[in-house]
Amino acid sequence: MPDIAALACALPKAELHLHIEGTLEPELAFSLAQRHGVTLPWPDVQALRAAYDFSDLQSFLDLYYAGADVLRARQDFHDLTWAYLQRAHADNLRHVEIFFDPQTHTARGVPMAEVIEGIHGALARGRDELDISFRMILSFLRHLPESEALETLAQARPFLDRIDGVGLDSSERGHPPAKFRQVFARCRALGLPVVAHAGEEGPPAYIEEALDLLHAQRIDHGVRAIESEALMERLARDQVPLTVCPLSNVKLKVYPDLRDHPLRDMLARGLKVTINSDDPAYFGGYVNANFTACVQALGLTEPEVLQLARNSIEASWVEAARRDALLADLDAAARRWRAGPA
Ligand code: ADE
Ligand code: ZN
Repeated sequence: MPDIAALACALPKAELHLHIEGTLEPELAFSLAQRHGVTLPWPDVQALRAAYDFSDLQSFLDLYYAGADVLRARQDFHDLTWAYLQRAHADNLRHVEIFFDPQTHTARGVPMAEVIEGIHGALARGRDELDISFRMILSFLRHLPESEALETLAQARPFLDRIDGVGLDSSERGHPPAKFRQVFARCRALGLPVVAHAGEEGPPAYIEEALDLLHAQRIDHGVRAIESEALMERLARDQVPLTVCPLSNVKLKVYPDLRDHPLRDMLARGLKVTINSDDPAYFGGYVNANFTACVQALGLTEPEVLQLARNSIEASWVEAARRDALLADLDAAARRWRAGPA
């Protein structure tokens, strides 16, 4: 039997849905707590890991925002991002587009510059030392008022040369994309491309709002599109990329079991689906763990795995010359795999 999971792991890929704060492994959380003389509300790493038992998105977000309290200085953001990049490299990621949530940090008095420069410094190091290209996406917290998102955008203005796009995340239910129409219009006027979380817990109408009102170029998650035939047709026709996060969806009880996940149906319907890890420290694994779990639970085939890897590169914002080089690397890796062991 061909080992499709091994193929998926070996392929060059891009990750397009990754919250850098969601890569905070318990070991690093405790080491940063020690660095700053902070006491975490868990006695040790095991106890913290044991707390990763979520009933829905909100129960996760409560813990995720509490964990982020150890991120206080530029070096912390650098160390966090560098740890992620080493894992990304091990998973054969060649390009990453990462979210950061400035409001989670500025609300605690951490200056915007510390956040952005810390993350960006590590990404630049990853580009030079690991050949991983990158984009940074500033994400607004949708449970907060739009006025605070506008204030955050104003604070980010001096750093626009570091910011490649904007997104929308946090508690979805009751916080429709329409709430953020103005701030996203302002972002687009500044030339920033838009993505938005929609259709994770929220209804298909939120996906339509993200497309129609925010002009999102990609939809993060988008799995609840499967409930609307008209929306599925639109997403397939317009080839709107969906950054799907299978292990996240199971951990946050969007689906009771990975075998219930619609990823394969979505692919079969011609949707531009990608596989991503979302908050890998909390959800049980990085990109290759997501691919492996999907191969095992859903029986993904070789063409499906190749399509998913190809989609990740095509749906990215990497410049054309590198995109073409990554796609050529992908084709070469597939050929090597078909030729069998050397
Ligand atoms: N922030 C971090 N992970 C998220 C998710 N899966 N959905 C919404 N907001 C998030
Ligand atoms: Zn997410």
